[in-house]
Amino acid sequence: MRSHHCSELRESDLGKSVKLIGWVNSARDHGGVIFIDLRDREGLTQCVFRPEESPGVAEISHSLREEDVVQVTGVVSKRLSGSENGKIPTGAIEIVAKELTIVNKADVLPFQLDKELSNEDIRMKYRYLDLRRPRMNKNIRQRSVITSAARRYLDDSGFFEIETPILSNPTPEGARDFLVPSRLNPGKYYALPQAPQQYKQLLMVAGIEKYYQIARCFRDEDLRADRQPEFTQIDLEASFVGQEDIISLVQGLLGSMFKAGLGIDLPKEFPRMTYREAMDVYGSDKPDTRYGMEITDLGEVFSGTEFKIFRSTLDGGGVVRAINAKSFAGITTGQMNRLNELAIQAGLPVKTLAFVKCEDGEFKSPLWKFFTDEEKAGLVSTLNVEEGDIVFFVAGQRESVSTILGRVRVEVAVMMELVKDSTAFNLLWVVDFPLLARDEDSGDWVAVHHPFTRPHPEDSELLEKGDYANVRAVAYDVVLNGYELGGGSIRIHEKDLQARMFEVLGVTPEEQQIKFAHILDAFRFGAPPHGGLALGLDRIAMLVAGEDSIREVIAFPKNNKGSDLMAQSPCEIGIKELREVYVQSTFKKKVEESGVS
Ligand code: AMO
Repeated sequence: MRSHHCSELRESDLGKSVKLIGWVNSARDHGGVIFIDLRDREGLTQCVFRPEESPGVAEISHSLREEDVVQVTGVVSKRLSGSENGKIPTGAIEIVAKELTIVNKADVLPFQLDKELSNEDIRMKYRYLDLRRPRMNKNIRQRSVITSAARRYLDDSGFFEIETPILSNPTPEGARDFLVPSRLNPGKYYALPQAPQQYKQLLMVAGIEKYYQIARCFRDEDLRADRQPEFTQIDLEASFVGQEDIISLVQGLLGSMFKAGLGIDLPKEFPRMTYREAMDVYGSDKPDTRYGMEITDLGEVFSGTEFKIFRSTLDGGGVVRAINAKSFAGITTGQMNRLNELAIQAGLPVKTLAFVKCEDGEFKSPLWKFFTDEEKAGLVSTLNVEEGDIVFFVAGQRESVSTILGRVRVEVAVMMELVKDSTAFNLLWVVDFPLLARDEDSGDWVAVHHPFTRPHPEDSELLEKGDYANVRAVAYDVVLNGYELGGGSIRIHEKDLQARMFEVLGVTPEEQQIKFAHILDAFRFGAPPHGGLALGLDRIAMLVAGEDSIREVIAFPKNNKGSDLMAQSPCEIGIKELREVYVQSTFKKKVEESGVS
């Protein structure tokens, strides 16, 4: 239906007869002469309808409205001197129309496409219109470009792209499963995969050696700007590899994606940090290293303190730590309240964060009077406190202090707008994660990544001794500007070790047989050593696009309540459909069997 797209024609095409098709981006009447900007996926071209050239066509052009779909045939002409538009590639030319077909009229749109709209619900309800905006068009295009680059890189590195089932079994990735009743198997349910973890490991047992998949994953968890209930991973796995092989592969993979998406060269090697260091210094396992404000330990400064709270914390094996928010002594009451709120959410056991600020040459703090001169001097020099600074302290157990100060650090950076360079991409690896952690509610040991992660070989004795808190995993996360882009590990490939791991996690031998027989069985038949990683494609696309929510790079995302306002999903299901999948009868039977009311 076209000879050229709307971003193609230049002065070198003057005199050519062309045919364009697209949407009326805007229409203007200049003394009876209609000008339109015709838009397609690629860009804009000005078309002019002059009564003296084609009176009939000019007549019809008066009825054109924004977003009508039209086809224009005409001649490429030079724009009048002074009316060129340097902002678009076709700005030197225009099409003098000879023919005009109105292909499809558009109603008045519910919102203007050239204005940013703050009401996200309206954008989502009419997502197909929202996607017409240049910004969204760019985001969707960029996502496609980086996805192709990833495929190319992995294809060239000898990986096979293999699909794994969507209707599968519950996967222990830490979230709730979405369940699908099976009509053919009354009372039985599929779970949508939280990740293709077990299948990709089984592909290694199958001798595939190098697998990848642009995999849809489903997790029923609380949603945030960087979390959707369905999202996409670049999931990969390889046999006969160690941590260094996966790290170097992924560095190259991300490099190729950023090159394709933004034309920039990432460093060939990303810096590394252990989990311990990340937690101690940044209070996060996904530290944003674009700014400092590192957490500083004040154990030495306060080693002899008689200030009660610090004394009892230090005597009880806890820590006293602080961050110095430079030049932030002017913090407003509203900001202070916000920080207190956040710190409480993160586990602060008291109502307000302790602070010291240095204003007009004086130190101001409710705590100041409890410190000795030596402690005051030690504090000032250790944290380099200067005029205008404010220091936030937390005393408590190490992990909890890290988490609280880590959250405060990130929020202060936002409040102070510390990140000025939006093109800074601080990638890093966080390595040596703990293998296990205590579940806060139940107190049970749970896998920090997942149960298939390999314990660090240097820590096998600790595992045997039952010193679970100190066992590291051969697990690594790749982090960018405070976001976890991806995570992976070297896996367990021995049946006995896998069974032992399940045992530590409280999965009984009976449960192991019900839930994981396939994996344990497979490991009996010559499972190769293997490992891998999965990158969150949505998060990468978001950061490449410079957006702050993954919703901006997903064509049809869900809102924070997990709903698609356009398609109105999820939706009610009728009695007939429910009966067909035995939801009610299964529920009744289970209740009767278990005796639970
Ligand atoms: P993990 O659970 O760390 O690892 O997930 C890998 C990456 O997927 C992205 N991600 C998400 N993105 C958007 N919305 C979500 N709800 C969401 N959840 C996770 C993140 C994350 O880093 N099977 C393992 C990988 C492996 O061990 O190979 C796994 O799924 O960017």
